[in-house]
Amino acid sequence: MNFPFYRPRRLRKTETIRNMVRETNLTPNDLILPLFVTFGKNVRKPISSMPGQFQLSVDNIVKEAKEVKALGIPAIILFGIPEHKDAEGSSAFDPKGPVQEAIKAIKNKVPSLAVITDVCMCEYTSHGHCGIIKGKDVDNDATLELLSNEALSHAEAGADIVAPSDMMDGRVAAIRDMLDENNFSHIPVMSYAAKYASAFYGPFREAAESTPQFGDRRSYQMDPGNTDEAMREVALDIEEGADIVMVKPALPYLDVIRRIKEEFGYPTAAYNVSGEYSMIKAAAEKGWLDGERAMMESLTSIKRAGADMILTYFAKEAAKVLQK
Ligand code: PBG
Repeated sequence: MNFPFYRPRRLRKTETIRNMVRETNLTPNDLILPLFVTFGKNVRKPISSMPGQFQLSVDNIVKEAKEVKALGIPAIILFGIPEHKDAEGSSAFDPKGPVQEAIKAIKNKVPSLAVITDVCMCEYTSHGHCGIIKGKDVDNDATLELLSNEALSHAEAGADIVAPSDMMDGRVAAIRDMLDENNFSHIPVMSYAAKYASAFYGPFREAAESTPQFGDRRSYQMDPGNTDEAMREVALDIEEGADIVMVKPALPYLDVIRRIKEEFGYPTAAYNVSGEYSMIKAAAEKGWLDGERAMMESLTSIKRAGADMILTYFAKEAAKVLQK
């Protein structure tokens, strides 16, 4: 198979042939759109660090859900911005909270759109950490009860999948137990299993108003240098009952996605996070690169690495490109 007999360029000559031999094909069905739901009515507040993304009130999120569904995207993941925050994040399981109300409204109007909920305390705590603070750190075991209550309240409102993102030890088992005890044994857990302490979450924290008021998240999120540890995290979460495992962020961790997919063969999700989105948006705004092509190349690379699902702020834009 040597030159001049074999010439790889033969199969790159036309768009049609390139399409025929492409190994990785992105479809709208691969995508999940994250949405930020806030209190109030008729709110559509732009998020300045994430051009094209908004905080939406429940009425507007229903409109958004209809559009998402029409584009062939199967699911959204909801993040809440509550009216009140306190040290225990008690509004996380308020049955009338923005996320709970949004779930009910969406399941009522667009029932076939899968509604995933992010289960974490950081949007609800006054200090912005992902659990209860004891001393200077998050108290793991005390936080499990809050997370379980939050997951249950999402299931009661009608969520299709719950997705814990806090990185407390034992939270998948705690949530699984709580759901099972309350007749929600059919609700899957999508675990943010390998979630790294990343600078790429910066824009999200403006969007969700969840910046830690002191310290950082390195005592619970993973160190960027580690992959063996990611395998242990995934193994634990699967043992505890996770149905889908997630890697986050996506682009700086493609090797981790690949290794998890190969070792576990589980449904694997990857989160193309806010910083990955905003970098491309900012460079495109400046005319430094072609935003649409950079978006499609990024998403294709995440799928090529082994992700079965991609959580991405680009979901609608990418689905529109794929429809052309
Ligand atoms: C909550 C949570 C975060 C993200 C998803 N869930 C932020 C964080 O851990 O600080 C980040 C998503 C993104 O950057 O797009 N814990």
